[in-house]
Amino acid sequence: MCGIVGYIGHRDAYPIIVKGLQRLEYRGYDSAGIALFDGEDIKISKTKGKVEDLKQKAEVANNLTGNLGIGHTRWATHGVPNDVNSHPHYSNSGDLVIIHNGIIENYDTIKKALTKRRYTFESDTDTEVLINLIEEVKKKEGVKLGKAVQIALNEVVGAYAIAVFDRQKPDEIVVAKLGSPLAVGIGENEYFIASDASPFIEFTNNAVYLEDEEMAIIRLGKEIKLRKIKDDAIAYPDVLELKLNLEEIEKGGYDHFMLKEIYEQPRAILDTYRGRLLPDQGLVKMAGLDQHIEKFLNANRIIIVACGTSWHAGLVAEYIFEDLARIPVEVEYASEFRYRNPVITHNDVVIAISQSGETADTLAAIKLAKERDAFVFGVCNVVGSSISRETHAGAYTHAGPEIGVASTKAFTTQITVLTLIALKIAKEKGEFSASKFHEFLTELENIPGKVEKALDSNNIVEEVANVYKDSSNCLYLGRGYNFPVALEGALKLKEISYIHAEGYPAAEMKHGPIALIDDQMPVFVIATKKGHYEKVVSNIQEIKSRKGKIIAIVTEGDETVKSLADHVIEIPETIESLTPLLTTIPLQLLSYHIAVMRNCNVDQPRNLAKSVTVE
Ligand code: M6R
Repeated sequence: MCGIVGYIGHRDAYPIIVKGLQRLEYRGYDSAGIALFDGEDIKISKTKGKVEDLKQKAEVANNLTGNLGIGHTRWATHGVPNDVNSHPHYSNSGDLVIIHNGIIENYDTIKKALTKRRYTFESDTDTEVLINLIEEVKKKEGVKLGKAVQIALNEVVGAYAIAVFDRQKPDEIVVAKLGSPLAVGIGENEYFIASDASPFIEFTNNAVYLEDEEMAIIRLGKEIKLRKIKDDAIAYPDVLELKLNLEEIEKGGYDHFMLKEIYEQPRAILDTYRGRLLPDQGLVKMAGLDQHIEKFLNANRIIIVACGTSWHAGLVAEYIFEDLARIPVEVEYASEFRYRNPVITHNDVVIAISQSGETADTLAAIKLAKERDAFVFGVCNVVGSSISRETHAGAYTHAGPEIGVASTKAFTTQITVLTLIALKIAKEKGEFSASKFHEFLTELENIPGKVEKALDSNNIVEEVANVYKDSSNCLYLGRGYNFPVALEGALKLKEISYIHAEGYPAAEMKHGPIALIDDQMPVFVIATKKGHYEKVVSNIQEIKSRKGKIIAIVTEGDETVKSLADHVIEIPETIESLTPLLTTIPLQLLSYHIAVMRNCNVDQPRNLAKSVTVE
């Protein structure tokens, strides 16, 4: 839930660390810090606030030399966001310095034991406890830094990606990982450390992703050495050649990553089905699925586990799988599933959906499902992420890096992958005639063009945003396939513009929420032609008679809803099960414009972080 960066080599570490932290700010942004080591002096600057604040503070200090450096951008867990609790943290001797992403759960017990040995603590963090534990082990056992880190980590319970250096060892950084991501970029006589590859992609394409319970001693002039933290066994680094390019992780002329990512959706959806969707041959091909198709065909049911927007994609998938493939589906919040002793059998298929592939609750749900013998299939965006490695098989979404904290293209590409899976199973099970199957594949192929057209609604959406930007509450209604889209629209508005919003199945309105409707209440209704159109039109009438403001997302050419609603936003026509790919577009744009008009930080909303790697 924090971002970590490190460098050791022949360049100045400062600009690499600062730029790297800016790229990782999506992971947390309540405070930031940097430590630089020039072989003699260690300089630490840290501050509450963003990396930009850190830059200003560090540059006033004006001593930014050093070929070794580590930096951190924080999402607070233990201790409020302030200068003192920001990372990096020193050990009591001032020799050891650490950055940490994760949580040390037994830090209090360790802190008490260290306090008895006269250790003192400046901050409220679990991380300062860990670095002093490492120092204590180093002194007591008379071992070097790497060994001390290993022994100390065997005493802690929790999750971590850490980077530590020692004043006595100016050519070495020790890193370790359990539960939080950690990549090492390998250059020419230089190494980069980061939570993901974005901080070092302009310097090297070669990277090693540490596995859980692995550590590495990174020493200049030496090859990277990996060890298992538990038993010291040597692990052999798998050096990957990364495909990421710089353009993908920059704003490319847009004011915000979120807007860029909304506009990338036609391309992202196309990239997601490219090579997998073959209408001419009447085929859907997906390596991860093809190898395990029997598991799906013989499944009693599918259980989908996910969080947030990915959970909404799971809800859309519930409709798709049951409707097209006729397999019963349950959709679970990963955070609830993992703690409620669920009944799982070896005939269940669990699908875990996650953009980042690092969400702690989803990872824990996967581990539980595997322990209980289910087959687990992952749908992730980030290649090489923990979830993609933890699942038995899976399919990537190929959306490209999503940096805005609010998920947009992740959602539509997840639905695309899940639709492909459902189609393949439906075909194999004989639920579809060849012609219906072909019609479906052809329409899916048309979706990127239709998303382009849905994006043309931007100007109208901006006008609507201007009218409702000062609202305190909003309702979002949809039925069938568009009920999850209503939930997703409400989540987008809440998380980036801080307006309270609720999503409801339109027919549920009369069981309670209708009491909220008055002339101050904007109600966003998804009222596309397919599905339960007439029923939704009745719901619109009910809102109108109570003077609610109606903003309807309609199929182009609709005149009925136009005559009832205060505003209409048109989207192209498509088959019912594909409508979420289009109806979600204006709702994403709407939350974006409202957030901009309210001067909110669109890409880094308060209190949030892109990947939630803690419980
Ligand atoms: O990386 P994941 O898809 O596992 O993340 C799950 C949620 O944290 C995420 O979708 C979150 O709800 C987004 N900020 C919503 O825009």
